[in-house]
Amino acid sequence: MTDTYILGIETSCDETSVAVVKNGREILVNLISSQIDIHQQFGGVVPEVASRQHVEAIIPVIEQALAQAQVQLNDIDAIAVTHGPGLVGALLIGLSAAKAIAYAQQIPLVGVHHIAGHIYANRFQAEFEFPLLALVVSGGHTELVWMSGHGAFEVIGGTRDDAAGEAYDKVARALGLSYPGGPEIDRLAVLGNDTMSYPRVYLEADSYDFSFSGLKSAVLNSINQSKQKGTEVVVADVAASFQASVVEVLVNKTMRAAKEKGAKQILLAGGVAANRGLRTALQQACADANMALLIPPLSLCTDNAAMIAAAGQILFEQSKFADLALNAYPGLPLT
Ligand code: KG4
Ligand code: ZN
Repeated sequence: MTDTYILGIETSCDETSVAVVKNGREILVNLISSQIDIHQQFGGVVPEVASRQHVEAIIPVIEQALAQAQVQLNDIDAIAVTHGPGLVGALLIGLSAAKAIAYAQQIPLVGVHHIAGHIYANRFQAEFEFPLLALVVSGGHTELVWMSGHGAFEVIGGTRDDAAGEAYDKVARALGLSYPGGPEIDRLAVLGNDTMSYPRVYLEADSYDFSFSGLKSAVLNSINQSKQKGTEVVVADVAASFQASVVEVLVNKTMRAAKEKGAKQILLAGGVAANRGLRTALQQACADANMALLIPPLSLCTDNAAMIAAAGQILFEQSKFADLALNAYPGLPLT
């Protein structure tokens, strides 16, 4: 079998990323041009600013990626691009670049769902064993995804309100920490203790859904109460207590779903997969239950184009090509 080289392009939020991946498993290059510094001054991502940054970055990042991977456009077999979900203006920049290259080179274009990309970041660790259960925790998503085979996704649980990463970012903002707040809370959590007794929200006994808005309100209330009483807010304790609640619910629900549905493997995916507390707790739970677990390396947890190319490899192998009418969909469903 001949080797396949896929050029991946990801511009769904605040990272302009371009990668070249061989056979869906080997990263030749994975460049990420982050805009975090620019958005930090606004306390979150400003969509219009993000689009403009992508316009400036996309061509130089593509050129640099090809040069670093030491491949020519003629060596590329297909272009994989995120076409949703995400910020529509941001998505359109990557999509336009992808279409232009696919047209000029007369090579296939595949449209990748951003969450499929996060899940496939795990394929750089080891091969998937089906059926598997993926816990997807990012800034926009908290989902339990059942996979019976490559490219076959079934969302069996989701968040009813905030996504896990969103809750992290909102709590961090209330604590006066910088954007994005997830890594900040993660850093502080190890310095504090779970002293605040925040709720663990499990919803109905048979539900695989999540809800984080109650926890978020409990945290915000406790911060306000401390301020009103004039007592000190111990930021590290709030961080540790908040993280303990999130991690406990995520891990327990995932383990229950994996057991009930008979998963052969659990995958952790999305930006919050970088969280040390979550990684450690899930590793422990899987070891106790004798369950196989894949976690992406830290560098592949947050948004990147290598994961998009890895998911794109499957669409390429299945000949699920897009045409040049491929559009950006901010609310694109996974299934
Ligand atoms: O997957 P991602 O890069 O972007 C989306 O697709 O949404 O995830 C970004 C989210 C942000 O909410 C960020 O705060 C969170 O992932 N995050 C973390 C950590 N690193 C990133 N949350 C908790 N702990 C971390 N170490
Ligand atoms: Zn993401």
